[in-house]
Amino acid sequence: MKNDFRQKLHLEPLKGWLNDPNGLSFFNGEYHVYFQYSPDSAEGKGRKCWGHWCSPDLLNWKFTGTVLLPDTPEDRSGVYSGCGFVKDDTLYLFYTGNVKEEGNHDYITSGRGANVILVTTGNGHDMSPKKVLLRNEDYPYYCSCHVRDPKVWEEDGKYHMVLGARTLDSKGCVLYYVSDDLLNWKYDRTVYGEDGSYMWECPDAFMLGGHSFLSISPQGIPHEKYCFQNVYSSGYYELESGKAENYREWDKGFDFYAPQSFDVPDGRKLFIGWEGIGDIPYNNPTVELGWQHCLTLPRELTVNDKGNICQVPVRELEKLRFDSLKINDGDIVSTELPFEFAGNCLGDFSIKIMDILELESAKGETSLRFISESVGGGRNVRYAKMQVCNDIRIIADTTSVEIYLNGGETVFSSRMYPKDTQIRLCFTGAEGTLYRLYGLNMC
Ligand code: FRU
Repeated sequence: MKNDFRQKLHLEPLKGWLNDPNGLSFFNGEYHVYFQYSPDSAEGKGRKCWGHWCSPDLLNWKFTGTVLLPDTPEDRSGVYSGCGFVKDDTLYLFYTGNVKEEGNHDYITSGRGANVILVTTGNGHDMSPKKVLLRNEDYPYYCSCHVRDPKVWEEDGKYHMVLGARTLDSKGCVLYYVSDDLLNWKYDRTVYGEDGSYMWECPDAFMLGGHSFLSISPQGIPHEKYCFQNVYSSGYYELESGKAENYREWDKGFDFYAPQSFDVPDGRKLFIGWEGIGDIPYNNPTVELGWQHCLTLPRELTVNDKGNICQVPVRELEKLRFDSLKINDGDIVSTELPFEFAGNCLGDFSIKIMDILELESAKGETSLRFISESVGGGRNVRYAKMQVCNDIRIIADTTSVEIYLNGGETVFSSRMYPKDTQIRLCFTGAEGTLYRLYGLNMC
């Protein structure tokens, strides 16, 4: 069947542009996913707002519309990224109100206001009046005007906030603030890392498996063969006695940025990223159709025995499986997008979606390669260094693929644009089960 490029498993806007996930939360018995939304343009021009989806089960989703608009002096140039924090029966949404002053400015050292703004909601979509909590003068003197993307959590009887920032001498860092009441915030400290970046966007700080982590999306890290292959990186530091150490990337694919974690009542820490990156050097063919970009599948985070964070698709998605087929080494089979493969690697291996892409692992190097220019939108290959690969899970939607290796310790997330949803798969050095997948229910 001809591919209409509409995703079946991934959240994407019907029209307009999507970037970062925002305000992720479980509140009033439902999952809430807000996102950076430009409803007026598939290229991200015009008003920058928050759109909103909610779901009782991560399978049935409802789009409730554009719920935060840039309609006050303090956010007139954009309702930028932020988070959700649940307290009692209220959802607190903290975000950055972006302001671009008229005049001759570089918008780095002058001309930009970055306000932390709070709104509250009792149902996820009707918002209270906006309240400005922090302005440029509340940030340390050594910061540029690039300070944004609040993430709030509770710990040790206090509320904490991190903000991503760029210093005046162009170093990426995170500013920590504390509060007793969610309204009055006091500067606490700044954390830097040794990654060579000039800006850290979208920070997130959390405890997992007894370790303290700081997730960031840094800009400006020099590219290398196995790391930092994309225009901007996204990864996490471990915080040992307050110092950021041992940066690891979240994802080795072409399209991953600005993720956010959130806790749900059954104790899981869930995680969603933007399956895209800003300032990308390729054209996404859905632009002509009137929309652009999607979020990743929701994932569960855990820490493995090496202290690395693993990501796996949430177990709810297993309910979408039907038509299972046993796969043996050497099999070539036909199927239809979307599909899932879950299996084991028998040593070096290759899995091909014929004429579309090849995932190959040999001699400690794993690569994801687009076979044709048009399918990859002009992108070619991404690498990961891995001594061994034991298990593998692939979830391919109509225009994306997510690959989880070694229990999700290494992940590749990428958009792809095959013309047809009918595909052929070729397995060498791998065995497991292939499933077809029902789509999400979206309205
Ligand atoms: C990350 C980002 C954020 C900002 C938002 C604006 O992609 O640049 O830092 O808040 O997008 O849309």
